[in-house]
Amino acid sequence: MHTANHDFAGWMRAQLAQVESGLSRWVRLDAPAGLGEAMRYAVLDGGKRLRPLLVLAARDAVGGQAEAALRAACAVELIHAYSLVHDDMPCMDNDVLRRGKPTVHVRFGQARALLAGDALQALAFELLTPEDGVPPAMQARLCRLLAQAAGADGMAGGQAIDLASVGRSLSEHELRHMHRLKTGALLQASVVMGAACGAPGPQAEQALAQYGAALGLAFQVVDDVLDVTQDSATLGKTAGKDAASDKPTYVSLMGLAAAQAHAEELRGQAHAALAASGLSDTRALAALADMVVRRSH
Ligand code: IPE
Ligand code: IPE
Ligand code: MG
Ligand code: MG
Ligand code: MG
Repeated sequence: MHTANHDFAGWMRAQLAQVESGLSRWVRLDAPAGLGEAMRYAVLDGGKRLRPLLVLAARDAVGGQAEAALRAACAVELIHAYSLVHDDMPCMDNDVLRRGKPTVHVRFGQARALLAGDALQALAFELLTPEDGVPPAMQARLCRLLAQAAGADGMAGGQAIDLASVGRSLSEHELRHMHRLKTGALLQASVVMGAACGAPGPQAEQALAQYGAALGLAFQVVDDVLDVTQDSATLGKTAGKDAASDKPTYVSLMGLAAAQAHAEELRGQAHAALAASGLSDTRALAALADMVVRRSH
């Protein structure tokens, strides 16, 4: 595994340009009664695009199909964007700021925010099932992976646990389970879907799944940390929200320093999984693991 001399910044710029143009092309303004406007508002102009980058980096590592990977990258981001729209609504976290802008329900009202989320979720699966260009078996596998990560055993289930946990103090085991579902599942699926655009073989597939699991958990641990260490302007969302809403987090469980150390430990696990993958070039995946843990927003 090489880790030096990879032009990660250049790689990232090129991938982001593709993702932005895919999203802008596929999330259309012409949905009825202002729905398209709300959908585009939720998806475009903002966001780190971490999940699409993971799909594309995993595809690169396994030499998978480009068209399938770009569709998968955008599909995962649509599910993520939909989850944010609903997460911010008054019935959930009741947030007014997201990606540096008023949240979708503040801007467009609750009914349209709900429907924009619904429509983005459906659009994600439409993107994964083009009439041609991606082999049917690959389409089916990508749909299944995304559905599992978004549904009751993934994001939606994790969000249900999150809401049921307000005011409670969870054990580390329970908190890890909640974080794995609500956030980790979609991040891990991003990696596994990128790999599913090729045929890397069982050793690499298993290693990439382990990488995705470590990175996915690290991501939410860091999200908990940033909620207390950063301000709202840096985050583009309301800082200090977890404590204010009495949510159990890694910081409330183990304290700030231990949470930060835990994220570093998970970064190490992600790197170790890449080293065990047998893949010849995992430099972008390695750099993304570093970015997840050492980011400031
Ligand atoms: C925020 O995700 C929501 C969580 C899952 C914790 P990101 O930090 O990836 O948000 P964007 O996409 O960059 O806005
Ligand atoms: C949200 O977790 C996870 C989702 C599935 C959207 P948070 O509620 O911690 O995300 P932020 O902090 O609002 O971005
Ligand atoms: Mg939430
Ligand atoms: Mg929230
Ligand atoms: Mg958070």
